[in-house]
Amino acid sequence: MEIIIRPTPEECASIGGRIIANLINGKPNAVLGLATGSTPIPLYSELVRMHKEEGLSFSEVTSFNLDEYIGLSGEHPCSYQFFMNEELFGKIDIKSNSAHIPNGEAQDIQSECLQYEQAIRSSGGIDLQVLGIGSDGHIGFNEPGSSLGSRTRIKTLTGETIEDNARFFDNPDQVPRHCITMGVGTIMDSETVLLFAFGEGKADIISKAVEGPVSAMVPASILQLHPNVKVIVDEAAGSNLANISYYKEVYENKPDWQA
Ligand code: PGA
Repeated sequence: MEIIIRPTPEECASIGGRIIANLINGKPNAVLGLATGSTPIPLYSELVRMHKEEGLSFSEVTSFNLDEYIGLSGEHPCSYQFFMNEELFGKIDIKSNSAHIPNGEAQDIQSECLQYEQAIRSSGGIDLQVLGIGSDGHIGFNEPGSSLGSRTRIKTLTGETIEDNARFFDNPDQVPRHCITMGVGTIMDSETVLLFAFGEGKADIISKAVEGPVSAMVPASILQLHPNVKVIVDEAAGSNLANISYYKEVYENKPDWQA
């Protein structure tokens, strides 16, 4: 794991944007795994800026989002489809049939999950997966206790996640209880993972995920076993890390070939 600690979310987003642009410039038909929530918003703003000002093109890119609420249509303002259209897809040149999100309104949820896995495989697999982290340690909506080998499936949200996400809805009772999420195993199959976290509220879970034991009770901790992960956090989210000065030293003294 490479731990990158920068003063602000915008600086973290700029590093993430550069990594994604380098990937797309070298492989125009790259496959991106995308996330929702507050965390990726600065990254998506940066990608939109790069598209508009630097000509970064997503015309051959394929994307797969991590998750979607069950029961919300893509037009519902709290659905992740709506979020992605607003924050990214509507502002770049990705083809709409190349931008995949699980269908939370599917009649047969189980076959939707199997087809989603199949579509990821048929695309050649995810080159780079963007992740946030829940305050309970979830990645995607893989809540504590999720199988570390799980694939795309239905999950029940924890009370903590429902509380965290209630801010997007008029009241907590409107937060769906179920979702479709890529599994932990699906995420672990990605070539590269960028996990972002911002703010003091994420400091405790970031230290558990990065420096604690690997455990299904902190699903993000499995990333310690992934060969190519960058954890990109602002000072506040990195503030509980025991080895903080070492991570900073490593980042500031990277050999030129690696920087
Ligand atoms: P957040 O959510 O970005 O809104 O904090 C992260 C997550 O739940 O994965």
